[in-house]
Amino acid sequence: MTQPRLYSGIQPSSGSLHLGNYIGALQQWRTMQGDFDAFFSIVDLHAITAPQDPQVLREQVRTLAAQYIAGGIDPERSCLYVQSHVTAHAQLAWLLSTITGFGEASRMTQFKDKTAKGGQESASVGLFTYPILMAADILLYDTDVVPVGDDQKQHVELTRDLAERFNKRFGSTFRQPKPVIRAEGARIYDLQNPQSKMSKSADNDKGIVWLLDEPAKTAKKIRSAVTDTEGSIRADKVEKPGVTNLLGIMSAMTGTSVPDLEAHFEGQGYGVFKTEVADAVVAELAPVRERTLELLADPAELDRLLAANAERAAAVADATLRRAMEAMGLR
Ligand code: TYM
Repeated sequence: MTQPRLYSGIQPSSGSLHLGNYIGALQQWRTMQGDFDAFFSIVDLHAITAPQDPQVLREQVRTLAAQYIAGGIDPERSCLYVQSHVTAHAQLAWLLSTITGFGEASRMTQFKDKTAKGGQESASVGLFTYPILMAADILLYDTDVVPVGDDQKQHVELTRDLAERFNKRFGSTFRQPKPVIRAEGARIYDLQNPQSKMSKSADNDKGIVWLLDEPAKTAKKIRSAVTDTEGSIRADKVEKPGVTNLLGIMSAMTGTSVPDLEAHFEGQGYGVFKTEVADAVVAELAPVRERTLELLADPAELDRLLAANAERAAAVADATLRRAMEAMGLR
């Protein structure tokens, strides 16, 4: 029996994943991969919507591949590949852009967030049309499920709308994908500013836990996380965003539910609480960090794996692209 298809990806836009990417994406990918025919991409075409240094980008692609594998993605079983190695992505994105409304694309909140600081004048057209490329990624693989953090939900919904519109206009071509967003850890917040999501573009590095940071540094960042003056350890997003975020992180790291953690920490102070959260994060991330560094010692093997998997991916993607082109009257 064929398994349902899973597709997801992360941008190689920094030297290390952060804890939000790890919990929102990689950790749930690892859990799900056994039950799905899974494709995990390194979305370098998305990463170049922000200015890049070519040499640094190349290194970050390898580093991300190593983190996928170290985080538990099995590259023999799941197809782990680099988006730009499969030419169909950019081609289908063009086709889909012709059925996407300008107003519809303008409503994407991530574009608004990403241009909030610098203004839209300095943003590229690629950053604006980025969700259409993401739709192409997903639709090329006849995807059933897309595990992501909740900041990507709107993009998966756009993907569903485009699939439906295309199928209506040109005949049944694409499968309808569904987002999969975990209950605990759908959004991890900045440790210093727990009203904002943890993001690689934050101003203050102290609020971000990087997967490849030294464990001592990670522990220190968590012990310095902003909390509140109330002193009780309970989840309350409005009144206690810092404590709630740490409870969510601990729950994702240990698999213990937030109510059970609240019971466990009853009567304890923030010092003990933060130390336990720090220990749980380090216990989970330190082995992943070490394995990543080992894998990076053999870049030729990583390149070989990525090349072999790009062929597997292209075989699927090219067939879907051909179907879409024919449906549109292009062949
Ligand atoms: P990106 O690279 O920004 O983030 C990768 C994944 O990490 C999740 N994430 C978070 N989850 C919880 N808390 C956070 N603070 C947090 N920050 C990031 C994101 O939701 C995402 O799952 N457009 C996508 C990449 C992409 C993609 C795709 C994803 C391109 N094509 C096709 C799925 C399917 C992005 O920029 O993710």
